[in-house]
Amino acid sequence: MTFRFLVTDSIPDSGLQMMRDAGEVTVLPTAPNPAELRALCASGDYDVLLSQLADTVDGELLATAKLRGISNYAVGFNNIDVAVATAKGILVSNTPGVLTDATADIALLLLLGTARRVVEADALVRSGGFEGWKPQLMIGSDVAGQVLGLAGFGRIARATARRALGFGMDVVFSPRPPAERMVSDEELGEFAGKVRQLPWQDVVAQADFLSLHVPLTEDTRHLVDASVLAAMKPGAILINTARGPVVDEAALVTALREGIIAGAGLDVFENEPALAPGLAELPNTVLLPHVGSATGPVRSKMAVLAAANAIAMAKGQLPPHPVNPEALPA
Ligand code: DGY
Repeated sequence: MTFRFLVTDSIPDSGLQMMRDAGEVTVLPTAPNPAELRALCASGDYDVLLSQLADTVDGELLATAKLRGISNYAVGFNNIDVAVATAKGILVSNTPGVLTDATADIALLLLLGTARRVVEADALVRSGGFEGWKPQLMIGSDVAGQVLGLAGFGRIARATARRALGFGMDVVFSPRPPAERMVSDEELGEFAGKVRQLPWQDVVAQADFLSLHVPLTEDTRHLVDASVLAAMKPGAILINTARGPVVDEAALVTALREGIIAGAGLDVFENEPALAPGLAELPNTVLLPHVGSATGPVRSKMAVLAAANAIAMAKGQLPPHPVNPEALPA
């Protein structure tokens, strides 16, 4: 039996070759629009869809999909309606673990870059505006001794905490905002005695830097809204490497413009790739094009995981990284 894989955008060869060894692989030359993707998934020509974050795999697509599985080339899977997939017996998988350090690196890069105004400083030098050392040139914020507030305490938050402790920061966190949940010392592991857990509202109020590490769900959509921004310190900096819609981006633009908070470092946007009006004009921001996992080795490992997931699902087996194992028929 030949397994058939539909890949919506080219991924590294490490993964493509695994699928080619297992069956037939169709890599689309351009990203499909929703109607095209729906038609391809309904055609019955493919066993598994290897999807990207930009592919909307919603109830409408799933209603007519003839697929065994959907292998998302990402750890996040908010682009997929998992409840509908499960109801239809379609397995969904993701690529956890391999992008933890790379994403935490980007969180720190944004934190340092925003604190020390790297984009403005770089532009000054390139424009010929650097006239020599001056006591008041490009004054930024300290990082050592400052409070880093983490929303979430999963893999990427922990890797961010590890780095921040190395920079001499005081790390506080709320594990599952906006809900309140306490993490036991056993769960804290290496972090016991090194970081403090606080109610979400105290994390917000105490943070000099607030870094977001929660999945996008109905509970976390606009977790950071105008009221949360108003409760932050005026000198605080917001860092988002999670998902854009966790922040009300229009409210963020207002807060940055009016000095309600001091800055923002963003790798993700509410309506990616579009930016909220006014965001790109704000000097107190560092804006990256969703590159948290963008290193060669990481993307290659993601491709291997996505391919291993896809091959298992094509065979009717549970993938190594299932999101909805209950979808596998007994
Ligand atoms: C993910 O994996 O969810 C990232 O956002 C992209 O690699």
